[in-house]
Order: sequence, then structure tokens, then C-alpha cells
Amino acid sequence: MSIRLIENQSGLAVSEAGWGVVSWPPTRFTFLFLMHYSSKSTQCVHSGTAVDEATGGVNTPIYTSTAYAYLNQTQHRYPRYFNTPNQQAVVEKVCALEHAEAGLLFGSGMAAISTALLSLLQKGDHIVIPKEIYGGTHYLAMHEFPRFGIEFSFTEGNTAADFAACIRPNTRILYLETPSNPLLSITDLEAVASLARSRGLLTVIDNTFASPINQNPIDFGIDVVTHSGTKYLGGHSDIACGVIVASRQLISTIHKSAICYGGNLPAETCSLLERSLKTLELRVSRQNANAMSLATSLQEHPAIAQVFYPGLENHPDHETARKQMKGFGGMLSFELKQIEPQSFLNALRLIKPAMSLGGIESTIVQPWATSHSKMNETERRALGISERTMRLSVGIEDAAELLADIEQALTKGESHWVTPQADAAIN
Ligand SMILES: Cc1ncc(COP(=O)(O)O)c(C=O)c1O
Repeated sequence: MSIRLIENQSGLAVSEAGWGVVSWPPTRFTFLFLMHYSSKSTQCVHSGTAVDEATGGVNTPIYTSTAYAYLNQTQHRYPRYFNTPNQQAVVEKVCALEHAEAGLLFGSGMAAISTALLSLLQKGDHIVIPKEIYGGTHYLAMHEFPRFGIEFSFTEGNTAADFAACIRPNTRILYLETPSNPLLSITDLEAVASLARSRGLLTVIDNTFASPINQNPIDFGIDVVTHSGTKYLGGHSDIACGVIVASRQLISTIHKSAICYGGNLPAETCSLLERSLKTLELRVSRQNANAMSLATSLQEHPAIAQVFYPGLENHPDHETARKQMKGFGGMLSFELKQIEPQSFLNALRLIKPAMSLGGIESTIVQPWATSHSKMNETERRALGISERTMRLSVGIEDAAELLADIEQALTKGESHWVTPQADAAIN
């Protein structure tokens, strides 16, 4: 652990990304000790969190002000300028976790993704997007980019060669999402980053599914990392937020557009997010273990045709996942054999059929009818998503009880097998 001293003039956490801020004992004119924490668990608890100077309280106070003094101030604070104390505290923490220099916090994951892409692209530019992608991002490309004269191509597959095949003279960005939603395919971060560098392109990744505990794309040369903080970062299915982290230089470019689009996060939600982040490592470690255990058991189940989980040795991208992920994540998908999806979902008692993911409670969706419903049927089938694809977000409950719930729902669902004729009608 290394320690640096800087003068505490403002009473606010001013540190470089990746440095935790500790000021103890809390005196008005003391110095800040900036500590570099290398472990995720310590970063989660301490990085960015600012001690309350007035009382010595151990948590960052909630600064509700939208009006800040400007005379004799080195910076002019305002929520939509993304520089209030609560925004900065959370950004410090996420930057430490993602090994990034700087960042911005948004009101949703889509606000982060759209701001990142619209600020880095302009009319006439082209972006390469993986074919298997979150439905909202797919919709952004299909329905918004054309209005701004931005061109895009969807890759045929998830390899660097698939990305290379789509590059045009006006390409500016290679966009990634790995593990992908909903089939958990893995793209080689290092290979795509080095392809981009060799062609002078930027890389942007949606790192939501992995979380910063399992995957740090910047370590592999990726330029910009986004998260839907509504998922693992928030982790309790009770706040919506988004994050962008990158180099100082790129964040400064994105910031110029971000203050125009105005998607900033309010102080109260920042505070909730900061509290959630303190347990991120604990939660995600448990979710990794639960998902691995469920995936292993479910692939043996006679009513399940296929399990998609990058931690399984028979997953086609398992070796790439091992190379770039520290844990395989809490998301897994599976294909029901012939059980009618609705009766399976209705029979679940513990696992909630509910949209969204990444919370402490296990939730399940039928991507066909939810996350990917905005795609047309041909697009969904081309991706390998059928009516019987189920996407499970594994929570922190007891793994044996989760498995028992799925097993009893599969048994109940068996009384509602789809007959071959009815199946043909559905398909
Ligand atoms: C992978 C992924 N990225 C981005 C988003 C968008 O996040 P938000 O709903 O917070 O805007 C989602 C939402 O489900 C998602 O699953």
C-alpha cells in the first residue's frame, strides 16, 4: 500500500482514480491520505468514500445542494456538470474497481451508453456492433443512429475476425458486450482491442453482465467501459443508474456532450449506489458460486436442452472467458426442451419472473418476450433465441434451494409439454 499526502483545501474527496481517500482523524485542516488499494473488497468499501469532516461520520454525507458557491472556488459545482461530491465519491470507487482514470454517473445504463456513443460519433461515422446485444442498445442503433447520420453494421459472430470483417473506411468505434445478453457468448477483449488500435479505432464495452469484480476491460486495452448500474452495481433492484469510465482525455470529450444531454444522477441515488458498491465484491462472489453450481446441475437435467454459462468447460468460449474473467458471473441461460415456458415460469416459487437482473434476489425472464421483444422474430431466431430460452439472474440465496425451485417447476411444467403439432404452430 502506498500513501501520498495532498492538502485538504476543499474538504472534499479529491483524488486520482484508483486511489482511496482517507482523512483521519477528521480535522478541518488535516491532510488527505490517498491510499492505493489493490484488492477489490477493500476498494469496494473504502475507495472514494469521504469521511464527514464535521462529525467524523464514516460515510460520505449526502450533499443535497444544487447551488454551490463560486467565488474563490477552483471548480464550479452543479449536478448536471457531473461534479458534485456524491457523484465524485461514487466515480472514485468505480474508477478504482475498473482501473480507470475518470468517469461520469448517469440516471440509467442507456443514458450512459447513448451519451458515450453519441459524444464519440458524428454524422458520417460508422460503428461495428455485435449481433448479440442488449435489446435497448440494438434499438438505439436501429432507430436513433440513422436520425443522426451514423452508420452501423452488426457482426456475424463474436470473434475479432467478425469485427474486422465489418470495418469500413469511416469506422470509428468497435462496440462490445461480453458476456453477451442473453446467450453469454464471450468476445476476446485483447484481440478486439489490438485490432482497434492497429486501425486507429476506439473500443467501447458494455461491462454490465460481468461487473467490475469479474472483468476489467481496460486491462486488456479497451478504451471506454459502460455499466447499467441498475444491475450489479446497485444490486438490490431498487435504483436506476449508469456509469462511463475511461481515460481522463476521453471522459473530457464525453463530458462536453453529457452536460448538454443532462442525464446526471441525483445525490440521494448516488448515496444509495455508494452503499451498494461497498458489498459488490461479496455479492458478486456469491452470485458467481451460485451460478456455477446451478449451471453444473441444470446441464444434467432431462427437461433442459442446453445451458449457456461461460464457466462450463463445454461452453464454446470457456477458454477465452478463463483468460479475461476473474469469475464467470451470475447470469446463465438455458433452453427448455418442450415444456411450455409460461407454465414453467408460473410454477416457480422462489425465483421471480421479473425484468432486470443483477439483484440479490434471483430473477428469470423469457428474453423472447422481454429484453429482446423489440427485435423482430427473424432477428431473434437468427441469434439463437427461442420462446423456450430462459435467462436466469442468479441471486445470493442458498444454491440448493434455488435448484430445488427450478426442479419442482420443471416437474410441474412437464404436465404442460408442448405437443409437436402445437410446437410447429409456435415456431
Ligand atoms: C447488458 C445491459 N446493458 C444496458 C442495459 C440498460 O440499462 P438501464 O435499464 O439501466 O438503462 C441493460 C438493461 O437491461 C442491460 O441488460
